[in-house]
Amino acid sequence: MKTASRITVIRKARFAAAHFLRLAELSDEENFKCFGPSSNAFAHGHNYEVDVQVAGPVLPETGMVVNLKDLKVILNEEVVAPLDFKNLNLQVPFFENRLTTLENLCQYLWNRLKPRIDSLSLELVGLKVAESDDLYVEYFGGADLLP
Ligand code: NI
Repeated sequence: MKTASRITVIRKARFAAAHFLRLAELSDEENFKCFGPSSNAFAHGHNYEVDVQVAGPVLPETGMVVNLKDLKVILNEEVVAPLDFKNLNLQVPFFENRLTTLENLCQYLWNRLKPRIDSLSLELVGLKVAESDDLYVEYFGGADLLP
């Protein structure tokens, strides 16, 4: 029997946010030693880019894996928009006691995307979070994440 092709669809979203990297128990000097200029408590910003990979069968009726309108609502409106023009440290509860590293941001985003992509009966196969062309993280599932 012929089975439907499984294809991965990738969609990118962008948001601008401020953050800083500091540990409360360290002095200004120690924070600078550890995190460099990113430790400035007055914050700095990035134009973050998020690439989401979603896989599933191509539905013969539509020729699509996922209705891009549904993916846009999840990614842009439900998951990314709440971060846009925010200070991640001060305005996103997940980071109240956590460093706003790319690694932690990736876990935050994965945790919010996963149940939503699951609800479309699709697989979230990968997530890339970039703060610039030169620096990004990727996650492909399978490990324990921060709650
Ligand atoms: Ni930064």
